[in-house]
Amino acid sequence: MEFEVELLNFPFFNFAQNEEFHSLIIRIFFSSTYFCASYKYKNSLSSQGLKYISYKIKAVSKHKVHSPFIYDLIVDVFENDNSFYAFPAVELIRKKLLLTQRVLTVDDMGAGSRVFNSNQRKIKDIVKHSTQKPKYAQLLFKLVNYYQPNTILELGTSLGLTTAYLAKARKKAKVYTFEGSPEIGKVAKNTFKSLLVENAELVQGDFNETLPETLPKIDVLDFAFFDGNHQKKPTLDYFNKCLEKANEHSVFVFDDIHWSDEMTEAWEAIKNHPEVTLTVDIFKFGIVFFRRGVEKQHFVLRY
Ligand SMILES: C[S@@+](CC[C@H](N)C(=O)[O-])C[C@H]1O[C@@H](n2cnc3c(N)ncnc32)[C@H](O)[C@@H]1O
Repeated sequence: MEFEVELLNFPFFNFAQNEEFHSLIIRIFFSSTYFCASYKYKNSLSSQGLKYISYKIKAVSKHKVHSPFIYDLIVDVFENDNSFYAFPAVELIRKKLLLTQRVLTVDDMGAGSRVFNSNQRKIKDIVKHSTQKPKYAQLLFKLVNYYQPNTILELGTSLGLTTAYLAKARKKAKVYTFEGSPEIGKVAKNTFKSLLVENAELVQGDFNETLPETLPKIDVLDFAFFDGNHQKKPTLDYFNKCLEKANEHSVFVFDDIHWSDEMTEAWEAIKNHPEVTLTVDIFKFGIVFFRRGVEKQHFVLRY
């Protein structure tokens, strides 16, 4: 048929018969299914799966990056495979908490959970579902170790494992970490004690109250990690509040930028903010820079 002949002449059709193409599609399919299954996307596999496939197609390696600043970030941070002295100690506490059956009563002040349907949560399940996996907590450590911020803020402490990574990456820094749920906060304080974390201050209460109360104590906010209340409006409110204390060297990291349509919209609004110049999307995290004198650019990078 004429249509079939036309189709056969279309270059994409030739490419689609290519083995490399088949292997790419198979790899994207399996990696996206695996990613979604392992990152609390279980209930919305199709939407998150499609976003992940789109990310996999767009994501580039260092060879396609022309910005020296972003190239250095890839080589010096993303590709830094060192196991730092602090990692085994934090992971030992994670292992211990993963075995803890004790139940906490949790006050959820955020977007809620796709995994938990009760406010009674076992510590081991909180570790499993609500804390950063080692790969991403260690990436935050490496970012702090690389950019050497003096003041760090974390919205969403949970059990304090990621706070410990942030604090240990730069002991001279002051880390303000915010948690609304008192029982979770108590466990986080024990995490700090066990790991001899002395430069982290836990700020207890709803972000809506504690953030405006704490920001005036901060001169310059060098590094912020937004990992609580994954909804559009609150995320943008926290961003705008923190922005007042940022300077051109500050680094902001947003968790779960593609967790929901609302979060993707928040991420787009952040990217479009006039003070934001460079952004990096690694699917799980969105990293934001405010450097002046550079062309505004958004990178989607493999990680
Ligand atoms: C995803 S967990 C944080 C995980 C932590 N950063 C880690 O990697 O271990 C989010 C935390 O933020 C807290 N949270 C969410 N919304 C909040 C709000 N509006 N005020 C205070 N805490 C809130 C929750 O209680 C929860 O413990």
